[in-house]
Amino acid sequence: MCGIVGAASNRDVVPILMDGLVRLEYRGYDSAGIALAKKNKVIRLRQQGKVATLQKEVAKATNFSGECGIAHTRWATHGEPSEKNAHPHVSGDNYSDNEIALVHNGIIENFETIRQKLSKQGYVFSSKTDSEVIVHLIHSYRQNKTITEAISMVAKDLEGDYSIAVIEAKNPGVVIGTRNGAPLIIGVGLNEHYFASDPGALVALTSKFVVLKDGDIAQITKEAYTVFNSSLEPVERETRKSTIKEGSYSKEGYRHFMEKEIFEQPEVIRRAYGDYITGAIQGSFLKDGAELALKNVEHVQICACGTSYYATMVAKLWLEQYAQIPVTVDIASEYRYNTTPKIKNSLFIAVSQSGETADTLAALRKAKDHNYISTIAVCNVLESSLAREADRCLPTSAGPEIGVASTKAFVSQLATLALMGIAVGDQIGVDKKTLKASLSQIKVLPDIVESILGMSEEIEEMTWGLEGKNHALFLGRGLHYPIALEGALKMKEISYIHAEAYPAGELKHGPLALVDEDMPVIAIAPSGDLLKKIMSNLEEVKARGGKLFVISDNNSITSNGFERALILPSGLSNIQSPIVYTIPLQLLAYYVALHKGNDVDQPRNLAKSVTVE
Ligand code: AGP
Repeated sequence: MCGIVGAASNRDVVPILMDGLVRLEYRGYDSAGIALAKKNKVIRLRQQGKVATLQKEVAKATNFSGECGIAHTRWATHGEPSEKNAHPHVSGDNYSDNEIALVHNGIIENFETIRQKLSKQGYVFSSKTDSEVIVHLIHSYRQNKTITEAISMVAKDLEGDYSIAVIEAKNPGVVIGTRNGAPLIIGVGLNEHYFASDPGALVALTSKFVVLKDGDIAQITKEAYTVFNSSLEPVERETRKSTIKEGSYSKEGYRHFMEKEIFEQPEVIRRAYGDYITGAIQGSFLKDGAELALKNVEHVQICACGTSYYATMVAKLWLEQYAQIPVTVDIASEYRYNTTPKIKNSLFIAVSQSGETADTLAALRKAKDHNYISTIAVCNVLESSLAREADRCLPTSAGPEIGVASTKAFVSQLATLALMGIAVGDQIGVDKKTLKASLSQIKVLPDIVESILGMSEEIEEMTWGLEGKNHALFLGRGLHYPIALEGALKMKEISYIHAEAYPAGELKHGPLALVDEDMPVIAIAPSGDLLKKIMSNLEEVKARGGKLFVISDNNSITSNGFERALILPSGLSNIQSPIVYTIPLQLLAYYVALHKGNDVDQPRNLAKSVTVE
């Protein structure tokens, strides 16, 4: 899932494109490149690695400026990270007027067939990417067609999800873009127009953007933009206003975006609570258009990926407890291909931070063909495809999340899903006293989370020694098993330690074989009906020499001879506890990665939103 940006202006577009790449870098940072259309030629610069490396090349280059260009930051799918595989890819004779350049986000599934066809026509490939076939195909159709016609013909040959932007030496003032499945928007500026994978790339330039539909082909110049449908008929497309603030792209004094976003969580929960009190939460999913007849809902199907999926596992237990409605949660990449019969009178919910995760989008599109009562997107990016394509959207107002490892978006998903559970409970007549109590528990959560953040030094102290480990186990029970899963995922993502999470009761059915004195075991042991159960599991680990890091609100654990113990506030309710216990696990992973000197915000091999399958 790469980031692409394009611009046509009456001023030099290099600063626009480079700034766009910096803001899109969370989408992939294997290589970066930029190309400009000049009279009768295309000029290009590419570098392996981060955008900063490319910036150095651009700064060194002479006369590298122009009023029309495209740029790209890559997350490698086909072809290893290298300058040769970096975008933009070109076709046509070098420094000749028939040169065309292209940037692509997505995967072309039938690229091998096209590659063989083009090789027979004499096209020479200089990269191992799937993307390069597109620019040669455009060039092959360009001979006797306009560039827009050539691109519409190419679109009919391609299979897979993609968005592309193209420039050519013949028309050094025009950028053409098209999309199918992968995101692409037009930004509307003053005497300039832009293409971008998401509005965040253009936040410093404009908040006015145009949403392109799958199959649209658009042209931008400095004067105007035009959108055509796949039959090249001019069409009008919706213009939207972006709510993204520029400030979200600065670390505001923190060492990393992840650290900043961890410390933003009290405010994020306050915002979610505020949205409930103002009725925004209820309004967005209950009354958006037609009233949602919750009384008819007999089952809820929820889909998501990664961290968002773990939030849905907690939400399942809350919804079943509060609304007494059976809930099925599925990993979206499994749900989209499974043949499980749909339960009648089902409500479908898709949860996603980015709203562009290909598997979650596909799960939503499948659900829309399966006659659910309604489809709801619980999403953090209102401008995203998921938020636009679902029948209703329940925003999680975490604000833009830049760190690839999700933190505040997870906590805002939990808070919003809990408030959604309360709203559903209220609609279907759950005892008001229970709901009122839960609401007041959420109201005080930000202060509790602030007190945990106040323990960050103690938590950092607790992590020393873990940076040298290669493996770790995380344990939790009930509501806290998904939190253990999330803790293990954070540890994997940014510290590269192979961390696995298990329901504590599952340990003796196999994973216990992994335990020895070199295996750190991080356990979540809050007071409650399951504490005795989990304490006996921890004794089993201790008996095998495992090194236990126990997080609990029960002071007695400090005297159990565990390696390390972290005592959290007591008396936490079922609504509060999963959120509160998440914070120390986020900080644990953060400090281990910090101590290892890892790139915390842009961990290897990952990217923020996974727009390919
Ligand atoms: C979480 O830290 C990861 N970045 C990843 O697992 C992520 O949660 C997953 O890709 C889903 O993303 P989404 O919430 O944007 O759909």
